[in-house]
Amino acid sequence: MNPLEMLTLDDLHTRTSVKWRLYPPDVLPAFVAEMDVVLAEPVERAMTDALRRGDTGYPIGTGYVEALAAFASQRWGWDGIDVGRSLMVADVMTGVSEVLQLVTEPGSPVIVNPPVYPPFFAFVSKIGRRATDAPLGADGRLDLEALGETFARAAATGLPAAYLLCNPQNPTGTAHRPDELASVARLAHEHGVRVVADEIHAPIVLDGARFTPYLSVEGAEDAFSVMSASKAWNLAGAKAGVVVAGADAEEDLERMPEVVGHGASQMGALGHTAALREGGDWLDEVLSGLSANRSHLAGELARRLPEVRLWEPEATYLAWLDCRALELGDDPAEVFLERGRVALGSGPTFGPGGAGHVRVTAATSKAVLSEIVERMASSVR
Ligand SMILES: Cc1ncc(COP(=O)(O)O)c(C=O)c1O
Repeated sequence: MNPLEMLTLDDLHTRTSVKWRLYPPDVLPAFVAEMDVVLAEPVERAMTDALRRGDTGYPIGTGYVEALAAFASQRWGWDGIDVGRSLMVADVMTGVSEVLQLVTEPGSPVIVNPPVYPPFFAFVSKIGRRATDAPLGADGRLDLEALGETFARAAATGLPAAYLLCNPQNPTGTAHRPDELASVARLAHEHGVRVVADEIHAPIVLDGARFTPYLSVEGAEDAFSVMSASKAWNLAGAKAGVVVAGADAEEDLERMPEVVGHGASQMGALGHTAALREGGDWLDEVLSGLSANRSHLAGELARRLPEVRLWEPEATYLAWLDCRALELGDDPAEVFLERGRVALGSGPTFGPGGAGHVRVTAATSKAVLSEIVERMASSVR
């Protein structure tokens, strides 16, 4: 059976993670990027074996990076992950923050493409840099003209600038294409902007699309990617991630304070490594379920809420819904929560372009997806 179809709501309500504990039990949660799956068997085995042995000290070694390199080679035909130019870190946002601090200075502009993962704004501000918007185009793809103009303005500040790319994009599920990424690299060189690609959703690509690692495109050699198995194998609570430097960013990575490598958890390192090495079949099953869920959600919305426009994702298990035709104000998630008891991602928190939108986490069973749409529909009847 598909891992997305194996758990009932009663099973899921026994979980104690933020998805299942932030709201009272009568609220159906679909607001956070956690999946309603049973773990891949090799992952569960690696972690429970370690627990049984009391193997819960500090992680060491290059096993995670090597597993990621092998996965990248096999899945994406990309051999650009070099153990000597990579560092295991606590999680993706820690890796992103630390790399941004290496390549920019206090007050530096960090360009982002809203609507985008809300913590991008918060982390950039926390490290004393300035988030600078280059919104996605009306088609949900990178607006290269706007990006070039924003890079030029960032360069004019005289401070070293960086671009925090979300590839694939959360919340729209856009898988940036090789030609788009090559243009990004050209623009970044032209304006002296350093690129940091958050590629946490990379393994989650739906039927008909492909993931292109940013570091695989020509001209991206001085960039960084930050990756993790946490989204694709539902391991967000088992902390670990990897910073990968391009060939010309090695010297920057050497300046990384040694303590930044202390953050990953042993459970994370072991679980993520097992996922990348042995979790491919499980992932393929989940991906086929997610592609089916995309059609199912589109069908349910067409039937119950035809005014809502679904941005069909190419990647991620997120669905970005334009609810403006329902006239529920800037934050329809508030209305759906209050009237329908369904918790969705709040559009305005994703920055400019987010008003009137909600984000649905679609990594669940078809029955739960139907119930999410039912609760949304009941809110506007
Ligand atoms: C684009 C993006 N980056 C980072 C994260 C968080 O990753 P981590 O928990 O490894 O910091 C998420 C979580 O959903 C995400 O969607």
